Amino acid sequence: MKILLTGGTGYIGSHTAIELIKRGYEVEIMDNLFNSKITVLDEIEKITGVKPKFYKVDLLDKEGLNKLFSEGNYDIVIHFAGLKAVGESVEKPLKYYENNVGGTINLLEVMSKYNVKKIVFSSSATVYGEQAKTEMTEEMQTGVGITNPYGETKHIIEEMLKDVAEADKDYEVTILRYFNPVGAHESGLIGEDPNDIPNNLMPIIMKVSTGEIAELSVYGDDYDTVDGTGMRDYIHVVDLAEGHVAAIEHMKPGVLIYNLGTGKATSVLEMISAFEKESGKKLPYKIVGRRPGDLAIIFANPEKAFKELGWKTKLTIEDAMRDTINYLNKRS
Ligand SMILES: NC(=O)c1ccc[n+]([C@@H]2O[C@H](COP(=O)([O-])OP(=O)(O)OC[C@H]3O[C@@H](n4cnc5c(N)ncnc54)[C@H](O)[C@@H]3O)[C@@H](O)[C@H]2O)c1
Repeated sequence: MKILLTGGTGYIGSHTAIELIKRGYEVEIMDNLFNSKITVLDEIEKITGVKPKFYKVDLLDKEGLNKLFSEGNYDIVIHFAGLKAVGESVEKPLKYYENNVGGTINLLEVMSKYNVKKIVFSSSATVYGEQAKTEMTEEMQTGVGITNPYGETKHIIEEMLKDVAEADKDYEVTILRYFNPVGAHESGLIGEDPNDIPNNLMPIIMKVSTGEIAELSVYGDDYDTVDGTGMRDYIHVVDLAEGHVAAIEHMKPGVLIYNLGTGKATSVLEMISAFEKESGKKLPYKIVGRRPGDLAIIFANPEKAFKELGWKTKLTIEDAMRDTINYLNKRS
């Protein structure tokens, strides 16, 4: 089985490439290297013994995509490529709609042309928007109360994929809604390396620990949670990568949707303290006001993925911290 990973040199794509190669799948990667480095391919080779074929192609380059698919003979596409900086998406919404939505339209057009009709899409818990409930299940309403254009692009792409699968019954679509990916490969060779100013907790913790950011801001300590700080569902990126392997092994015509999360929520202060414990380093932080739109607790109900894909997470927050610190040490 030959699988194309769009955005495969990125954080989640590269970890998924490793798990797929380990299980004997033939993996090829396309990426425009906007938010990743070509050297990731060497690290994948060190870990697996296989260097995936790589194509520097932009999803907005229709000709490039056409050439790729005319020669590729792919069975499945796992579609990671996209811009993901929430803050930037508020400032430059059209860039996000063009790249994420426009890029996916180009991809689906070329897939249909070359009769590649299996696609796994990297969606996000952000599609649930603001809900009264904190435990998210797949059948909950999506698309209402999404607070940024990045999240809107994920919702629009989900709807587009449903329409495509409705119009062409040969399509097999799996939508994976990730919760908060953290951690790195246990080798310390690959991990998250954002080019931009991050606004997710873990990349900020990493940058505070290396001194690139002076201090961590904790947005609110008066929520109704274990310690007053916001709680989220943090999933180790290797567990997440394995979720993709399970997903491609259970595809069928129509649309399948799964939450990929742990089912547990961890607070900001618990995350800080877990990092401090593993690293032996103090992380300077200050409590500031709540951010508009932030909810107290959000976590996945991951039962559907367990029942239908036989997948569940195995790794812990401590594993994620240990692997992140190992990655940071190896990188420096
Ligand atoms: N990391 C998270 O917290 C998170 C959470 C939920 C969903 N997601 C989604 O998962 C996917 C992968 O995320 P990630 O954390 O690995 O991000 P990443 O930025 O590390 O990887 C995305 C890759 O896509 C590439 N890319 C972007 N636009 C492209 C284009 N037009 N053409 C070709 N390549 C392009 C980038 O260069 C990058 O290598 C994204 O779609 C993201 O929105 C991520």
